[in-house]
Amino acid sequence: MTKILSVKNLVIKFYTFDGVVHALNNVSFDLEEGETLAIVGESGSGKSVSMLSLLHLLPMPPAKIENGEAYFYGNEEEPVDLLKLNRSGISKIRGGKIGFIFQDALSALNPVMTIGRQISESIIEHLGLSHAKAKEKTIELLKRVGIPGARQRYDNFPHQFSGGMRQRVMIAVSMACTPKIVIADEPTTALDVTVQAQIVDLTKELQKEFNIAVVWITHDLGVVAGMADRVLVMYAGSPVEIANAQDLYSNPQHPYTIGLMNALPNVKGDGDSRLASIDGIPPDLMDEPRHCQFAWRCPHAFDRCWEEIPQQVSVGENHVVSCFFDVENGRPKENV
Ligand SMILES: Nc1ncnc2c1ncn2[C@@H]1O[C@H](COP(=O)(O)OP(=O)(O)OP(=O)(O)O)[C@@H](O)[C@H]1O
Ligand SMILES: [Mg+2]
Repeated sequence: MTKILSVKNLVIKFYTFDGVVHALNNVSFDLEEGETLAIVGESGSGKSVSMLSLLHLLPMPPAKIENGEAYFYGNEEEPVDLLKLNRSGISKIRGGKIGFIFQDALSALNPVMTIGRQISESIIEHLGLSHAKAKEKTIELLKRVGIPGARQRYDNFPHQFSGGMRQRVMIAVSMACTPKIVIADEPTTALDVTVQAQIVDLTKELQKEFNIAVVWITHDLGVVAGMADRVLVMYAGSPVEIANAQDLYSNPQHPYTIGLMNALPNVKGDGDSRLASIDGIPPDLMDEPRHCQFAWRCPHAFDRCWEEIPQQVSVGENHVVSCFFDVENGRPKENV
């Protein structure tokens, strides 16, 4: 496996008029070429912030990156720390080597520019093709993502497409320049179940064809089971567990992940596979984290959990957990 992205110790705060929001606390993870990493967690757990920050899409201020590195290995030259790039550096990568699919295609697409031009301009900018060639490539791409009458639809505006078709267009936009990574932030939430499945399948197909790594942000563990190779579970701005999808379902190690799994009726079946609720509510992110963020809701919390912040520790191949408690043996861990 070849690493395409390596995020280390990412800390992000929002300096608002009401106080400081501790949005991300020391998040580290790697992404391999061609794999799908799902990021799951409740609303406000930091899923979007962690990814938006890499492409300089957070409003700064109020956001501030306090610490961290995000090495991208998909450049021709040396690996680059995305967080240290200047405006022109990141705009060469954003939309070119790293694509983004947003939840709300209507607001992500430019309403006064035709679909065709939105895609072909990105191809011209990042791949340096002529106008004519970019137009042909765009039409091919629109066909590829299943837009009927692609040549005629080239000159349509976003509002002339249905929700599902717009999301297909977003996929075409994100993949137009054969990126190394596509970040999909809840791309199917607004769609009905049948269209959701089509979008997931289409993304998987294109990902395989072009060997693209996909980061798929979602609330829906059913989607995760259907497409993720690995899963990062976030809780209140902290990474609680990272594991192969199989491992996470069969051998969850963090009490929060276990809570999620227990509350799940049937991951692969037809039941409701959206994140179920666990007793209690997440902490106020205005309070500086001084101990495990999950301690309030954790059935295993003991003294140490209220005194220290657990770090990400490897517990097996490709399995990382931030917890002081050994759930398998029912006692505090000794060597972390
Ligand atoms: N512009 C902002 N100003 C202040 N706080 C913000 C801002 N953007 C995000 N936050 C805070 O950062 C935290 C993480 O937000 P983020 O959007 O990453 O959550 P999320 O996991 O993507 O949630 P959701 O599932 O609802 O999309 C939240 O507490 C949020 O309130
Ligand atoms: Mg989000």
